[in-house]
Amino acid sequence: MRKRWLIGNWKMHGNLAANKALVDGIRERLPVLSESIDMVLCPALPYVSQMAGLVADTGIMLGAQNASDHLKGAYTGETSPMMLKELGCGFVIIGHSERRSYQGETDGLMGRKALAAIDSGLIPVICVGETAEERDSGRTHEVLGRQLDAAFGYIRTAHDEIIVAYEPRWAIGTGIAATPEIVQAEHAFLRARIAQRDADFAQRLTLLYGGSLKASNAESVFSMPDVDGGLIGSAALNADEFVAIYKALD
Ligand code: G3H
Repeated sequence: MRKRWLIGNWKMHGNLAANKALVDGIRERLPVLSESIDMVLCPALPYVSQMAGLVADTGIMLGAQNASDHLKGAYTGETSPMMLKELGCGFVIIGHSERRSYQGETDGLMGRKALAAIDSGLIPVICVGETAEERDSGRTHEVLGRQLDAAFGYIRTAHDEIIVAYEPRWAIGTGIAATPEIVQAEHAFLRARIAQRDADFAQRLTLLYGGSLKASNAESVFSMPDVDGGLIGSAALNADEFVAIYKALD
């Protein structure tokens, strides 16, 4: 039986006051976390230390939205995954489609970042997903397979812990979530692809869905057998919505 997960990606939102209000709002609505559902919040980088204080002793865990593929060195403006670990992060999102689109991140870079994160003691949340055009032209599995293989080329399945998030680009921030049937089909594809490398690892692997997930559609997506939780964007900025999505995992 795999654990269930809810990860909030706050993207480039928030400030000191808003972050505190959001964590307070989540805690008021959910004073105690379920033992079987983990929660991770990923604030914008400058607020990681503030957030480490806010979530201390709450059971909520902390993640970052990006990290370098290097551990240290002359890389101006970059953040080492080791630094994130020292500041209290346990997770880092790797290969989010917004970084692929706006920062030109490649499959290869994603693999190197995943490895650097693992070597720093972080759990990488590796994002994969196709565009609308790729889906319409029947290339979804080719794209997902390529993205997954690039990351798994660096991962040691015998002992590395990772999370994979299926985030179709056409569903991110659009208000059009993938149907539960599409999510299940793609999660099953991803799990089967990983099983070709290591069947036990594939069964243990946490697979999350992300893309316009809200309280109103979370339960139907979470009811799918290969869905272990969600990676939430805009709905993670609203305590009512985020806690309702968390409860839909129960
Ligand atoms: O990382 C989260 C995803 O990009 C989903 O964002 O829930 O706003 O569609 P969204």
